[in-house]
Amino acid sequence: PLPEPYRVPLPAPPVARPAGTTGGADLYEITQRSAAVEILPGLRTTVWGYDGIFPGPTLETRRGRPVVVRHRNELPVPTVVHLHGGHTPAESDGWPLDLVLPVGDTSKWAHAHNGMVGDMAAGTREYRYPMTQRAATLWYHDHRMDFTGPAVYRGLAGMHLVRDDVEDGLPLPRGDRELPLLICDRTFNADGSFRYPALDRSLRTLPGVEDDWMEGVLGDVVLVNGAPWPVHEVDAARYRLRILNGANARRFSLVLQVPGGPNLPMTQIGSDGGLLAAPVVHQQIDVAPAERFDVVVDFDAVPVGTEVTMINKLGTGSTRDVLRFRVVRAAADDSRVPERLADVEPLGPGPVRREFVFTRGAVGDHRGWTINGRSFDPNDSLADVPLGQTEVWRFRTDVHHPVHVHLDQFQVLLRNGRGPGRFDAGWKDTVDIRPGEIVDVAVRFTDYQGKFVMHCHNLEHEDMAMMATIRTI
Ligand code: C2O
Ligand code: CU
Repeated sequence: PLPEPYRVPLPAPPVARPAGTTGGADLYEITQRSAAVEILPGLRTTVWGYDGIFPGPTLETRRGRPVVVRHRNELPVPTVVHLHGGHTPAESDGWPLDLVLPVGDTSKWAHAHNGMVGDMAAGTREYRYPMTQRAATLWYHDHRMDFTGPAVYRGLAGMHLVRDDVEDGLPLPRGDRELPLLICDRTFNADGSFRYPALDRSLRTLPGVEDDWMEGVLGDVVLVNGAPWPVHEVDAARYRLRILNGANARRFSLVLQVPGGPNLPMTQIGSDGGLLAAPVVHQQIDVAPAERFDVVVDFDAVPVGTEVTMINKLGTGSTRDVLRFRVVRAAADDSRVPERLADVEPLGPGPVRREFVFTRGAVGDHRGWTINGRSFDPNDSLADVPLGQTEVWRFRTDVHHPVHVHLDQFQVLLRNGRGPGRFDAGWKDTVDIRPGEIVDVAVRFTDYQGKFVMHCHNLEHEDMAMMATIRTI
């Protein structure tokens, strides 16, 4: 039986502290290892965690202050780390074949992935992040070719908040009133272990999942910051919620229910790529895998004692429940949401330069997912894109696909020939494309030449090859 919702307190992932400096950058050290933790009350779950915890430690960094993260892999399989939303040179972006091999176990992986190899590191690898980017809610997670879904499912994900002076100058809620919320879903076996339907449970050679999960793996337990349907006590004041959909495949449509009253509105101040130009008020937020919504909620709009419940309107049964806030005390609050937030330089419009079609197809002999009829080929670029030029790209889909582009944020220009949708504002790195939709985005890559990827962020689709090499030239 599943536990009762709203009994477990909302965890706050610890904030990582730098271990020192290296070559003018702040140095962080993270060990990827497995650990037994209590997620469902009274049961032990083995996670694969950054520093053995799920979510991993939150990195808080500043614009213009470079960072090196030294990852050590004590897990039984190779890993790859990607800073999602990071403006990162190719060699540190987490190319899916740039493996960090398990410590002390470097021999037998050269022939993994059909002999395709990238830049392999034995045991540890340093990722360098220039952090020349706007304040934003980023996250980091595993990105190994063919095995991202099961690795993230076991826990390899954490938040990374970039801060800057522009954001610090705004009177937004901060401190205890700023909450990162990594929302995802999982299924558990009776013994507390995660149940992920991988074809190859050792995650060594054969990618993919059992037939029933071709569309993506869904769970029946909703976790927020790693806890099942948690509850959090709040002041009657404004809070900043940094919502991240960290699920493999589930989309959420979130509302804040108030017993006997109208839902509490959520004022969006930021998207994947940081602050919007101006706030957008939502009654409901649709968030696809990997998208972030940075919102301010005013709990002073309800009486002290009220329980405000975040509900997933797309869920059924146990997946309708997400998170509860208990408004416990009156409190002073000098925060507010200004009318103007930040400068957002508009990109585009222009003629459609490239079109990418995301559809179900074949991957060699296997069933799979394709872009323009092709499955991921690390050695062949689907697009060579000049740095510094704005291009309009058109995405089309068969079923739902959240499309993610590495290296730079983009802007949504048109959704089905009309303007951007309600959830498309600001800089985006992931755009949710619903069945049969046509979405045009303006993309501009800057600074770094090399090979990057673009892919569907339904992680099962990604692992079944719905990914393309993009080369910046
Ligand atoms: Cu969040 Cu290419 O990934
Ligand atoms: Cu997809």
